[in-house]
Order: sequence, then structure tokens, then C-alpha cells
Amino acid sequence: MSDISNETRFLHAVEMGLGAWQWGDRVVWQYGNGYGVEDVRKAFQVSVHEGIRFVDTAELYGNGVSERLLGEFLKETDQPVLVATKFFPWPWRLGKGSLVRALKRSLDRIGIESVDLYQIHWPSPILSTEVLMEGLAECVKSGLARTVGVSNFGQSRMLASYSALARQNVPLASNQVHYSLLSKAVEKNGTLARCKELGIRLISYSPIEKGLLSGKYSVENPPPGTRAGNYVEMLPKIGPLLKLMTAIGQDHGGKSNSQVALNWVICKGALPIPGAKNPKQAEENAGALGWKLTDDEVARLDEASDPIAK
Ligand SMILES: NC(=O)c1ccc[n+]([C@@H]2O[C@H](COP(=O)([O-])OP(=O)(O)OC[C@H]3O[C@@H](n4cnc5c(N)ncnc54)[C@H](OP(=O)(O)O)[C@@H]3O)[C@@H](O)[C@H]2O)c1
Repeated sequence: MSDISNETRFLHAVEMGLGAWQWGDRVVWQYGNGYGVEDVRKAFQVSVHEGIRFVDTAELYGNGVSERLLGEFLKETDQPVLVATKFFPWPWRLGKGSLVRALKRSLDRIGIESVDLYQIHWPSPILSTEVLMEGLAECVKSGLARTVGVSNFGQSRMLASYSALARQNVPLASNQVHYSLLSKAVEKNGTLARCKELGIRLISYSPIEKGLLSGKYSVENPPPGTRAGNYVEMLPKIGPLLKLMTAIGQDHGGKSNSQVALNWVICKGALPIPGAKNPKQAEENAGALGWKLTDDEVARLDEASDPIAK
């Protein structure tokens, strides 16, 4: 592995984080319907209590609500919490200066002076990788971001970002991508291996596959809202994998399917950031830490998930 620069080293020491898309999002997660601010406040508090000290939000989540809530929750805790947020490349955002401007607005909403990680949420159809990276480098040089990363970047775009940032003497800290037992493209196409080689932390989003890997959804009981449509083809196929996860969890003193799903991501060398709607889910997810699947168990989980994973 290449030498990880000191600036980004802290991210490699973070084993797991907490995703904050659920905080305020009504479109996918139906915030306000079945759960609300007190539930996510407690989810944050339980996570911090259990040692989770890295929260991933975005200006997009709940149209700023997630960042505002994070700011509120941070003021209520005396524990240090690392903050990651994201720049959304709206088509009307032109020029590298739009990154510093957007980051300042995020910082205002969160109520902090700098973020630990500032990420490009998605590649831009308008701004080139070069311009995006110049904007990110500016965020670091102005002291508004400790480190910077990308999200949903394929391998070649990630490498171009790495090089463009390197020309500015700024390391690419992370690539946040969809990675779970049911979504293994980044493993199959070499992105995960490339990240390890270059010291880029691969942050795994949707590590419980939006609830599917918890085992609570089935063909008879599909997930609510827009998720149902996304998983029509997959749901009928996941039974054997879920059974194996339960059996393996039993061998570890009764670990749940969600805990096995998260532990698998950690064993692969990635950083999972599960979302939680309430303290119960947050506490359960935190239980993915402090133990390890064996190599043989990881291999069996891979064998069972390979034929159905995307
Ligand atoms: N960069 C990107 O483009 C991108 C995209 C997606 C996500 N993310 C980030 O990644 C984070 C996590 O991804 P995600 O929220 O999509 O998916 P996830 O973490 O795989 O799933 C979260 C959902 O699963 C259910 N759940 C969580 N813990 C559970 C448990 N212990 N038992 C049963 N059900 C449980 C909850 O929904 P229900 O209770 O409704 O089932 C929860 O909202 C997000 O919060 C966000 O920060 C980033």
C-alpha cells in the first residue's frame, strides 16, 4: 500500500460511521411518517454512546434538514464527532468557486468552522473532474475542509481525481460508493483494490442494502415507498443468503443479520455508514463492532451472495 498521507490517516482508523440521509428525507425514507426528530436524535445519541464518532450527511439530505439536525445534535454532546458532508453538482453550479460557496453554506447549517471530509456527491454533467478537484483543493487550502473525497465515482474518474488533487498537493481521502453483500460491483471491477493500493478509504453506503439484509423484508412484506420497486427482482432470491447470515450470526453468540452484513463490509476493508431511523436500529448496528467474521465465513457469504448481487 502506498503511504497514506497524515491528513487522511484518521479516516482509516474509523471502523464504522452513521449515515444521516434518514434525517429529514421524505422522498425515500418517509421522514415524519413513523419516525421523526426525536427518533433520529436518539439514534445519534445511542451511536455516539456506542463509540460511533463519524457522521455522513449531505446538503441534499432533507434539503438541508439533515445538516441542521446534525448541528443541533453536535451541540448537545460533549464527545468529539467527525463530520462528513457533500457538495451536490447542480447543473446551475458553474466554476470551482461554487464548491467553497456551497461548503460555507453547509458549515453555517451545521454550525461548525470546518468539516473533516467534504465529498463530491455525484460526478457532474457540467463541471469537469479537473475543475471539481480545483474546487475541493480550495476547500482544503482555505481551511474549510480537513480532507476531501468523491462519491459514486467509477475507477477511471476516481484515478483522474486522485491525480488532479495530487497536482495540488492534496490527497484524495475517500470514495463513497454503494457496497454491500448485495451490491458488489466495486469489488468485482477492482475499485476496492485500487482504493487500498492508493490509500483511498472506500466508504460503503447502503451497507444493509436499505434494510433488505436485516431480513425483515420479503416478497410478502416488501419495503415501503420507492424501495419496493428497486428490489422487485432481488427480493425473491435473497432467502438462502439471509438464512446463512442468521446461522453465521448464531455462531457468534446471536449476532443479527444487519450486524453480519456490516461486519462483512468491515472485513472487506471498507468503512460502512449504515443509516438508522431510531435508537433501536442504531444500537443494533453498533453491535457490528467488537468481533470479526472468520475468513471462512466471509468466503461462504461471498459464495451465497455472488449469484444474486449486482
Ligand atoms: N453517496 C451517496 O450517493 C449515498 C447514497 C445512499 C446512501 N448514502 C449514505 O449512506 C448511508 C447509509 O445508506 P442507506 O441509508 O441508503 O442504507 P442502509 O444503511 O443500508 O439502510 C438503512 C435503512 O435500513 C433500515 N435499517 C437500518 N438498520 C436496521 C436494523 N438494525 N434492523 C432493521 N432495519 C434497519 C432502516 O430503514 P427501514 O426501517 O425503513 O427499513 C434504515 O433507514 C445514508 O444514510 C447516507 O449517509 C450515500
